[in-house]
Amino acid sequence: MYRTNTCGELRLADVGKKVTLAGWIQRSRKMGGMTFVDLRDRFGITQLVFNQETNAELCEQANHLGREFVIQITGRVAERSNKNTHIETGEIEILVDELKVLNEAKTPPFTIEDNTDGGDDIRMKYRYLDLRRANVRANLELRHKMAFEVRSYLDKLGFLEVETPVLIGSTPEGARDFVVPSRMNPGQFYALPQSPQTLKQLLMVSGFDRYFQIVKCFRDEDLRADRQPEFTQIDCEMSFVEQEDVLNTFEGLTKHLFKTLKSIEFDKPFIKMTWEDAMKYYGSDKPDMRFDMKFVELKEVVSGRDFIVFDSAEYVGGICAPQSAVYTRKQLDELTDFVKRPQIGAKGLVYIRCNEDGTLKSSVDKFYSEDDLKRIADECKANPGDLILILAGEKRKTQKALCELRLEMGERLGLRDKNVFAPLWVVDFPLFEWDDETERFYAMHHPFTSPKPEDIELLDTNPGAVRANAYDMVINGVELGGGSIRIHDSELQSKMFKLLGFTQEQAQAQFGFLMNAFKYGAPPHGGLAYGLDRFVAIFAGLDSIRDCIAFPKNTSGRDVMLDAPTKISDEQLEELHLKVEIKNPE
Ligand code: AMO
Repeated sequence: MYRTNTCGELRLADVGKKVTLAGWIQRSRKMGGMTFVDLRDRFGITQLVFNQETNAELCEQANHLGREFVIQITGRVAERSNKNTHIETGEIEILVDELKVLNEAKTPPFTIEDNTDGGDDIRMKYRYLDLRRANVRANLELRHKMAFEVRSYLDKLGFLEVETPVLIGSTPEGARDFVVPSRMNPGQFYALPQSPQTLKQLLMVSGFDRYFQIVKCFRDEDLRADRQPEFTQIDCEMSFVEQEDVLNTFEGLTKHLFKTLKSIEFDKPFIKMTWEDAMKYYGSDKPDMRFDMKFVELKEVVSGRDFIVFDSAEYVGGICAPQSAVYTRKQLDELTDFVKRPQIGAKGLVYIRCNEDGTLKSSVDKFYSEDDLKRIADECKANPGDLILILAGEKRKTQKALCELRLEMGERLGLRDKNVFAPLWVVDFPLFEWDDETERFYAMHHPFTSPKPEDIELLDTNPGAVRANAYDMVINGVELGGGSIRIHDSELQSKMFKLLGFTQEQAQAQFGFLMNAFKYGAPPHGGLAYGLDRFVAIFAGLDSIRDCIAFPKNTSGRDVMLDAPTKISDEQLEELHLKVEIKNPE
């Protein structure tokens, strides 16, 4: 037996016991005639003591142990005189009388501690060492617990976990596909699923009624902090349900996860906000509701004072930042630079300081009298001490910029506390999104999303105004999950494909299997998928989902540890009947 106990297990009650432990050397220090070694495994750290006086040879051996050596020791548990209250085993230590080096280790390229000296790249290259760090491991433990709780909760509700294939045809979720060449079908390619969307719908046609799967999805899109090319969904689908049933079921799951994993109870139903309102008040379909600072439309109140920027703008909107009137000129300039960044795209920023003494001071005093400013401040429900920030321009673009400014102010004011959680449902998304470049409609969610029954007649006359039975769960400004009630009628589905610019032949070629299946009795159905990585990241307070994925990709989509992707051999290409010619090599 390699060990009797783990390194996280022994307590005062074990004093006097003879134990054998095995693990990695976190660090060692020599103090007079004693050598102290911190022995680490997944479960914790235990202090070992080697005593020069009682066993000089063993102590000498211990003095030669390096960081990350794997050792096994036997000794007696003793009470520590100098207790460490920061670790759970901090009241005891092991007086070692046997030591065996199981494996020596090279000095690791960075320190294996919570605050490591290793930069991102080096930690990713040696991810197996990075994963030895307690805080990184804690994220994976949380991930495990979440997956476990999801399975147990959904199992109790009668959901069946069904695996779906990874080598499939294209699934339209709006990103590019990753493709895999087929050796047995020369010149043909599988696509990896962007989600199991069509397959879970087929399972409903098969009568499975309630399906879920914790499943890898693959999307070839530009990476961001909350995006990975391969990520994991908690993918779900239910039959004979309406939108309200799906929302209730998954609100229940979300509350259960908060309760079991974070000890947080939400006793009220989650807010439901229409997409229209989310855009109007927060300029985003994933509003961060941890703080207020709602948008106020100011076009009417600011027009007609010969200030051309506001007079000519399609939209003028403001936010009222609490207790920020004290902002200095320099801080206001910083905010102006912030909104002018190309990725935000505003032309400038107008401010009104609502001073504590009741006076108002703005950057557009030339155009607006004190009375005018007061009317704007009233419109914004500003209090003395507040700072009103105003942007103007094209509606959607300005709303988006104002959204970024709101988030920035929230950050600066410390209102985006990672330990506060503000979940909501955003509902009634538009069914279609118009793309100016290609001059056509795209499905905002995916082509299987059902329009709201009351909007179906608009499909022919004004598709842009049709709302969908689609919903997203949003927490703290992150889209955690999304889904919809599906079309289960093959005719309506054909019509959708037509509106999306598919010819009948194209629709048949790509989705014939689904439309045909619907002809054999499809139940009304709907569902949703959560991003598991995002869920864990939110719970763990992480800035990037990479930190809760064991072996993530970097921002160029590379696995730097495995050095993938790579070229393949000529023999492999031959077998696949492929010849590689790189177009426009850089
Ligand atoms: P959607 O495309 O909204 O819906 O995806 C569902 C959830 O998956 C997560 N997600 C991602 N997480 C990390 N990296 C990515 N690249 C990434 N892309 C998406 C998000 C998102 O909310 N089939 C539908 C669901 C349905 O209609 O039932 C779908 O995939 O958290």
